[in-house]
Amino acid sequence: MKETHHHCSVIILAAGLGTRMKSQRAKVLHPLLGRPLIAYTVGLAQTLEAAQSILVVGHQADEVRSTLEGVAVDFAMQDEQLGTGHAVQQAMPHLKAEDGPVLILCGDVPLLQPDTLRRLLAHHRESGAALTVLTTQLAFPEGYGRIVRSPSGNILKIVEEKDASEAERELGEVNTGIYCVEARYLRESIHSLSSRNVQEEYYLTDLVEMAHAEQKRVSGLVCRDASEVMGINARDQLAKAEATLREQVNHRHMQAGVTLIDPERTYIGMDVDIGPDTTVYPDCYLEGITQIGSGCLIGPNTRIVNSEIGNNVEFRGFCVLTEATVEDGAILGPFCHLRPGADIRSQARIGNFVEVKQSLVGAGSKVNHLSYIGDTEMGEGVNIGAGTITCNYDGVRKHKTLIGNRVFVGSDTQFIAPVRIGEGSLIGAGSTITRDVPADSLAVSRAEQKTVKGGATRLFDRLRKRKK
Ligand code: UD1
Ligand code: MG
Repeated sequence: MKETHHHCSVIILAAGLGTRMKSQRAKVLHPLLGRPLIAYTVGLAQTLEAAQSILVVGHQADEVRSTLEGVAVDFAMQDEQLGTGHAVQQAMPHLKAEDGPVLILCGDVPLLQPDTLRRLLAHHRESGAALTVLTTQLAFPEGYGRIVRSPSGNILKIVEEKDASEAERELGEVNTGIYCVEARYLRESIHSLSSRNVQEEYYLTDLVEMAHAEQKRVSGLVCRDASEVMGINARDQLAKAEATLREQVNHRHMQAGVTLIDPERTYIGMDVDIGPDTTVYPDCYLEGITQIGSGCLIGPNTRIVNSEIGNNVEFRGFCVLTEATVEDGAILGPFCHLRPGADIRSQARIGNFVEVKQSLVGAGSKVNHLSYIGDTEMGEGVNIGAGTITCNYDGVRKHKTLIGNRVFVGSDTQFIAPVRIGEGSLIGAGSTITRDVPADSLAVSRAEQKTVKGGATRLFDRLRKRKK
C-alpha cells in the first residue's frame, strides 16, 4: 500500500478565517505542537508525492505563503470566502490534470494519516466512482455535515447542520470534508453549485447530491478512527488535537528507548530527535528543530528550543536553552539560561543562575554560580568564580572577552571587554579587569585592605552614645 500517487492531484482549502477560533490570526496559522496547522495537510500531499498540490488561500494569504516557503505548492487566491465549493472553483484554473483522481482536503484536519488517503484513493479507483467521500461515525456529530444514505446504503447527499432537519441531525455519520473526485467530473460540475442554503454559501458538499442526480457513482469510505479526521474549528478542538498528537509523538519516543517519567506532562515537538536511554522528567518542553543524544538526563521544567545536545548531558532542572549547542558529558543547571550561540564543550559545567550568550565555553571549563558570559571565547579547563561578569556592552557596541586555557578567575570579577586573558593566568577575586593579561600572570585590581585594631569597638561606642 506504500505506492506513490504521481497520478493524483491535491486541492487544500485554507482560505477561511475560522470565525469560531475568535482570533485575529487565520485558523490554519495557529500552531499545533509548534507547527502551523496548514503544514500538516501540506505535508500529507508531499508524503503522497502528488503530481500537483494547490492551496486555496484568502485570509492572511501572505503569511500562509511565507510559512510554506520552499514547499512545492501552487497557490490559488479566494478573495471572498463564499464557501468550500467556491474555494474549489478558485483552484480549477490552476489544476493541470485532465483526468485522474483529485483529493480535496481541508487545511483544518491536521491528524489525517497518509494511509487513510491511500485507502481512499484505492477505494475510489476500485469502485469506479466519480466522487468518493471519506466519512466517520461520531457519538456527538454537532457541527459537522451529516451523511444521508438511501435504505440500500448509497450516499444520497450531505446536509450541513444548519440546513438539516431534526431527523437528519440525529444521523451519526458525518462528512470529514475529505473527498476524492475525478478531475473530469470536477471540471464539469463545480461551476454548477448554487448558494441557496441557510449560510448562502457555495457548498462543496452539494456535489454529492448533484452527482447522484446525474446518475454518477458516489462512493463512501468510513474512517474508523474519528479522532484522525477531527476538524479544528475552535480552540477546544485545537487543544484536543494537540493532546492526541502529543500522545503519538511521546509514544514514538518511548518506543525508541526514551524514558518519559510522565508522558502526559512532557511536551515534545514534531522535529525533535532523542537518543535511547535519555530520561525526560515532567514539565519539560523540547521544541523546534532539536537534537538530543543518548544517555542524557533532562531534569524537570527544562525548556530546550532549536538546540543540539550531545550524549550523557545532565540537566539538573529548570534550564532554558535557545539555539545552543552542548557537547557530551556537560552538566547544566539547575536554573541556567543558554541563549543563542552558547556553545558548551564536552564535560563543561554551567551552574545555577548562569547566563551564557554567543560564547564558547571550552571542554571541562566550569562556570558554576551567578555569572553572565557574553561574546566570550573561553579555552579548556578554565574555572570561573562565582559572580563573574563579562561586561560585553558599552551601550553602543558589543565587545569580546578572550580567556585562554586553564585560567583561574576569582569570584566577583568583571571583565571589561574587549579584553584578552592569556593561558594559565590567575585573576584575583573582586577584580575589575580592563587591560589584557599576558599568559601565566597574576592580575588583581582592588583597593588595598585597611584593618584598624579595636576600631569596631570604638565606632559602636560612639554610635550608642549619640543615640542616648
Ligand atoms: C465543512 C463541511 C462539512 C464537514 C466539515 C468537516 C462544507 C459546506 N461543509 O464544514 O460538511 O463536516 O467541513 O470538517 O463543505 N474554506 C475556504 N473558503 C471558504 C470556506 C472554507 O477555503 O470560503 C476552507 C477553510 O479555511 C477550512 C475548510 O475550507 O480549511 C473547511 O471550512 P470550514 O468553515 O471549517 O467548514 P466546516 O463548517 O467545518
Ligand atoms: Mg471545519
